[in-house]
Amino acid sequence: MAHCAWRFGLIRLLALLGLALGAAACQPQTAPAPTTAVTEIPPAPGVTLAAPAGAAGLGDPLYPALGNGGYDVQHYTIDLTVDVARNMLDGVTTITAHAMQPLSAFNLDFSGLTITRVTVNGQSADYRRQGSETTITPPQPLAAGARLTVTVAYRGEPQPIRDPGVPFVPLGWQRFEQGIAVVSEPSGAMNWFPSNNHPADKATFTFRVQVPKPYQVAANGVLADTQDAGSSTTFVWQMTDPMATYLATVHIGRYEVVTATGPGGVTLRHYFPLGTPDTVKARFARIPQMMQFMTERFGAYPFDAYGVALLPVSTGWALETQTLSTYGADGADEAEVFHELMHEWFGNSVSPATWQDVWLNEGFATYFQWLWQEETEGRPAFDATVQQAYAGLVSRRVGPVLPQQPAGMFTAATYQRGACTLHALRLTVGDAVFFQILRTYYERFAGGVASTADFSATAVEVSGQPGVEALLNAWLTSPTPPLLVHIGQ
Ligand code: TRP
Ligand code: ZN
Repeated sequence: MAHCAWRFGLIRLLALLGLALGAAACQPQTAPAPTTAVTEIPPAPGVTLAAPAGAAGLGDPLYPALGNGGYDVQHYTIDLTVDVARNMLDGVTTITAHAMQPLSAFNLDFSGLTITRVTVNGQSADYRRQGSETTITPPQPLAAGARLTVTVAYRGEPQPIRDPGVPFVPLGWQRFEQGIAVVSEPSGAMNWFPSNNHPADKATFTFRVQVPKPYQVAANGVLADTQDAGSSTTFVWQMTDPMATYLATVHIGRYEVVTATGPGGVTLRHYFPLGTPDTVKARFARIPQMMQFMTERFGAYPFDAYGVALLPVSTGWALETQTLSTYGADGADEAEVFHELMHEWFGNSVSPATWQDVWLNEGFATYFQWLWQEETEGRPAFDATVQQAYAGLVSRRVGPVLPQQPAGMFTAATYQRGACTLHALRLTVGDAVFFQILRTYYERFAGGVASTADFSATAVEVSGQPGVEALLNAWLTSPTPPLLVHIGQ
């Protein structure tokens, strides 16, 4: 199969062309700072200071309002009854967390649906909503380190989120003709469950989704239980490894479930809409070999299961939803199938510390697409792909890998220039050290998050070459692509 470095899915093409399809900011308006000066009155001796409120954001450079400060989520239980015909949810999300500071109040990110009740540690709690920020005030302030169980009951029809980072697709829970599915990267998770909506706070998940017969539900992780209640079925899915909110997915439809065993005994389960042609299913046939390739380079597949779920409509994009990559009805070519699988290691197990670090997902996945091409087609094909990608960067003067705004996140800067950044590093330190850097980086940050600085520090440390930092900086931040010396022979 021919791999062309410039063959993007429709989504990547649109992003590259800079087409914004009526994108509106997803960030809530923050109240203007008060203009009157306030004189602080020191507390009288013996009077305890009131606990502060948790921050409304986590300081993400591109999405300051995403995520919330002051607490750390351990687990989400998302309990949904879905009226599939009307796309209506009746839900309760239970969040267990630790307070990381004294808290008089804290925020959850949640947008659109009607909240009917909030409890904190079993007691009703007041809440106030402003845009996608929900501020919850528990009856008593929480002490630092306190365990925290929050329940939010809600209902309604989720409204897709328009995010300037992905102008090509509405985000979150949405209807796709005969089916319902969730694709959220980066901000969409907040249209169907309340959360700390930022990859910096990963957590485990339980999904309990009740649907009318004959619908089926697929979600992240492992199908732990199926409960028959006459006219409806409840599907219980467990994601027992940490997951970023943007990777959470639920697919509802009618499926042929194809199961197999992958390398190391990993369960493979694919959700193909009924009637999916064999030619489309065949596009995923090499996943076991691809897993084997990644396993040899980085170690075992990081989760309990893997598979794909196809939407009932064609899309032109795919998303690496954890353990269950989401595709349109036509599937995708081999390079893209590899790309989404590869994200399970880089993106899903090691997740970006901020959205500005998204090249650690996309540049890595793109570079490894090229390495898969080397594996299957040989070194000349790989060299040609790198050369072509680099020539494209130069002729189009593709800007810095680190985006300065959401619109730069899913572009040639993070994908192709990000991939060429890795190639430049490889040419500088040599193959053995290069792969040792990647393995060390993976081992260190698997199951968590990593920043660009973490990657750079790992590269310097493993190579023993301080100059590697300047090389990476130039590739990541200079206005036009640096020279890529010595591609191929
Ligand atoms: N991460 C996807 C990829 O490269 C691209 C993407 C980002 C996306 N946000 C999305 C796809 C939202 C679908 C929906 O594979
Ligand atoms: Zn990707």
